[in-house]
Amino acid sequence: MLKIDQLSHSFRNGLEWTEVLHQISFEVHKGDMVALLGSSGSGKSTLLNLMAGLMKPTEGSIYIAGQDIVTMNENQLAEFRRSHIGFIFQAYELIPNLTVRENIELPLVFQGLSPRKRKEKAMVLLEQVGLPDKSEMFTSQLSGGQQQRVSIARSLITEPSVIFADEPTGNLDTKTEEEIIAILKELNKSMQTTFIIVTHEREVAEHTRRVLTLRDGHLEEEPVRTPVLGGTT
Ligand SMILES: Nc1ncnc2c1ncn2[C@@H]1O[C@H](COP(=O)(O)OP(=O)(O)OP(=O)(O)O)[C@@H](O)[C@H]1O
Ligand SMILES: [Mg+2]
Repeated sequence: MLKIDQLSHSFRNGLEWTEVLHQISFEVHKGDMVALLGSSGSGKSTLLNLMAGLMKPTEGSIYIAGQDIVTMNENQLAEFRRSHIGFIFQAYELIPNLTVRENIELPLVFQGLSPRKRKEKAMVLLEQVGLPDKSEMFTSQLSGGQQQRVSIARSLITEPSVIFADEPTGNLDTKTEEEIIAILKELNKSMQTTFIIVTHEREVAEHTRRVLTLRDGHLEEEPVRTPVLGGTT
């Protein structure tokens, strides 16, 4: 489903290039839920942004659903991202002058789905994230946890192959964090959506079956846990 092969990335600082990810390789199966753990500056966001096609790596390949996104041009990548990739941000990134439902529907507008169909799909997802009564409110009227639920629903509406979440609970208190993780686990189970969740918190990584750890841009994998808490294979 997702295959990272010998991925390296360098940033340029004036005349100097600094390599922040070093020859990373791993595979993730469909329906898996993986935590990407690491301290600040270890390269988590860089790796996630590369996998989501938000920037190009210096070296290596990124296969999603069998296609190498590194070799795609801008148009191909934009099209691919719209149909295959979902993203959940730490700061939600919702559009304040659209309603909750309109925010969730937005990715479908680009797919040319009829307004009735869009609404139908959005309402199903709002139900699943526990906010069916908030559909006509503006996102600024919601709590942080509620806004993150909306952004989870938005990331799922195109039924992407994989959803990348960068510190999805980073702005939330412990109780809300647990609620959000519970929702992600439930969706992972019911929809078989593949989730890659970046976090620097051990507690979040305790919930996933697989934990990948970045240390100074090097990848280490912990032994897979036997009790199936998220994901299948
Ligand atoms: N646009 C950039 N230009 C130059 N260096 C960058 C850029 N983005 C990230 N870096 C560097 O790459 C390294 C990894 O950064 P990254 O943001 O991926 O870390 P992170 O693990 O997500 O950290 P955090 O937990 O603080 O979010 C850091 O040393 C950072 O300074
Ligand atoms: Mg980061």
